[in-house]
Amino acid sequence: MVAIEADGLTRRFGDLLAVDDLDLAVDREVFGLLGPNGSGKTTTVLMLTTLLRPSAGTARVSGHDVVREAARVRERISYVPQDMAVDIKLTGRENVRFYAALYGVAGRDRVDEVLGLMDLADRADDLTGTYSGGMRRRLELAQALVHEPEVLFLDEPTLGLDVAGRRAIWDHIADLRRGGMTIFVTTHYMDEADQACDRVGVIARGRLVAIDAPAALRRRIGGERVVLRTDRPAPPVAVGGIRLVGREGDRSVYHADDAAAEVPALLAALSEEGVVVRGLEVSSPTLDDVFLALAGRQDEGGGFDYRSFRNMIRRRH
Ligand SMILES: Nc1ncnc2c1ncn2[C@@H]1O[C@H](COP(=O)(O)OP(=O)(O)O)[C@@H](O)[C@H]1O
Ligand SMILES: [Mg+2]
Repeated sequence: MVAIEADGLTRRFGDLLAVDDLDLAVDREVFGLLGPNGSGKTTTVLMLTTLLRPSAGTARVSGHDVVREAARVRERISYVPQDMAVDIKLTGRENVRFYAALYGVAGRDRVDEVLGLMDLADRADDLTGTYSGGMRRRLELAQALVHEPEVLFLDEPTLGLDVAGRRAIWDHIADLRRGGMTIFVTTHYMDEADQACDRVGVIARGRLVAIDAPAALRRRIGGERVVLRTDRPAPPVAVGGIRLVGREGDRSVYHADDAAAEVPALLAALSEEGVVVRGLEVSSPTLDDVFLALAGRQDEGGGFDYRSFRNMIRRRH
């Protein structure tokens, strides 16, 4: 039995195809569904967790159909939504106890156990209103674990957390996976997915455009990422083998087939335009580049999404 299987899973909202013919098989891994805002991540999770009816297609989670056997599915999964779901007027322990009661889990032991797992034991009796964002996220994870789910769905678990908080969440996710759990996580932070996920699915405008291990996806596009910092926005210049993939203010990001051969020509062309280069950085392609390559190819006419691009590069610096 595969933990999560989707076959032609589709959801329409009126004329909008929010999720379009998605096929997926996920089992005992950390699987990341990656895409910018509005690409269909939450809609996918809502269908897999039985909370939203598919318009077409089927999905099975823990061996049960998400529509016909929704109750069976719910017994075996947990879902942590994107928005905070803890009651700030209760203590951490009270919040977890509430969930334990909701799921029909008896006994203090399990409550203490999950609080301990999430490193909240020493703050368990403080009001959650006094918790940091990272602690609240960990408390939500503790709640989600109380009935020992086989499959855990996390929608943007690190959204809005600081660096340490994000790292702690991913560390806990890795621990759960080592324990044999299947974890399905959405994020629009490509760099985190690259580090933390065994495999990722790249979703753009509702369509799954690639699915593989992060390193395999990066190898697939090949070449190098070149970032230039210039005294003013770099004008587009034509240099073979190198192409501008995005720009914000004084930063321009290029994809080069062979940076060592092509960057000198790029610098010469920019210098001819009177542009002063203040910084140059060459690195391996990132998942951002993979996403831009795949989503760009899918979207003929070059409707480059500058807004999500800006979000991506902001996150990196
Ligand atoms: N209940 C809804 N009614 C109408 N449109 C919706 C609804 N939920 C989501 N959408 C639309 O579906 C698309 C995908 O949304 P969503 O799955 O929330 O994306 P993501 O989680 O990747 O940001 C977006 O264009 C969004 O506006
Ligand atoms: Mg979402």
